[in-house]
Amino acid sequence: MKKKSWVLLTIVCLLVCFGLARVYYRFTDDFRSGNYMHQVPHHAEWEIAALPQEEQTQLDTILAQKYYYLGKGAQSFAFLSQDGNHVLKLFKFKHLKPSWLIELLPPVGLFKRMREEEKERKYLKLESVFNGYQLAYDLHKKDSGLLFVHLNKDSGPGKKVRVQDKINLWHDLDLNELIYVLQKKAVTTRQEMINLLSRGDVSTAIQRVNQIFDLYLTEYAKGIYDRDHGVMHNTGFVHESASVYPIHLDIGKLSPNESMKQVTVYRPDLEKVVYKFNLWFSENYPQYYQELRQAMEGKLSTIFGEGYHVQPLRT
Ligand SMILES: Nc1ncnc2c1ncn2[C@@H]1O[C@H](COP(=O)(O)OP(=O)(O)O)[C@@H](O)[C@H]1O
Ligand SMILES: [Mg+2]
Repeated sequence: MKKKSWVLLTIVCLLVCFGLARVYYRFTDDFRSGNYMHQVPHHAEWEIAALPQEEQTQLDTILAQKYYYLGKGAQSFAFLSQDGNHVLKLFKFKHLKPSWLIELLPPVGLFKRMREEEKERKYLKLESVFNGYQLAYDLHKKDSGLLFVHLNKDSGPGKKVRVQDKINLWHDLDLNELIYVLQKKAVTTRQEMINLLSRGDVSTAIQRVNQIFDLYLTEYAKGIYDRDHGVMHNTGFVHESASVYPIHLDIGKLSPNESMKQVTVYRPDLEKVVYKFNLWFSENYPQYYQELRQAMEGKLSTIFGEGYHVQPLRT
């Protein structure tokens, strides 16, 4: 074959491989054991106290259900329980362990240092995510909808949980071996806003935004805050028969910071959340935007104890 044909054939092969990989990721979200299983050293600080018998029985009943694929984020795969009330979250270690490309480098000289630095960086990232979950469990359990966190593996075989992946394949997973979190099912803030505003219920939408601001204030008062300000998808509302309450459903970036108790420190953080709402309302519901913006101004003026201006965005 001529040189030109080889080049062409190589390009076609690469494009086909790339296309197949895209299709695979799109259909499966890359849910596979190599991504949700990982050897994480045991951390004494991630051990949680044994649950009271009644709570343990309730937990066993919840975990005895089947779970169906719900979605994924950068750090987890989420599954919805058969009764629709709970979410089982498995950690996605893909971005929490050294990339295979770096692992391919020979362990000599500069390459060795690069490998070690990457390993250290990923390990610190993993610890910070797990610490976030532990922090939420210790200080913010109800407000993050948490029922249980399992961050250290247990020895010996345990009970099995049945989960269905994105392409409807069933997996029987050993709960002792898994690193997981069990949480109440929430409606994400984005979806809650769509549900309310698509039927013109602006006053309940305003009430929900205020509930989210109050949730953030509760966190600051505890000396914790979320480094990720994606409020629309990382917070949500648990709908129970008696009430609808907000939770911080993504707690992987929850961090301790005592100084957050001071208004001068938490104010810029809360303003990032305000910005996200402001932008989302202006882009998605321009017909209600001024009303929603003014309501945020009212709430923030109360929080900060002075007139607060939310920058109008072009609609
Ligand atoms: N408790 C929950 N209720 C409803 N949906 C959830 C819940 N937890 C996670 N999800 C869905 O799964 C996605 C990923 O979960 P998240 O906790 O945000 O993990 P990540 O750290 O990977 O972003 C969320 O954006 C949301 O769509
Ligand atoms: Mg998230």
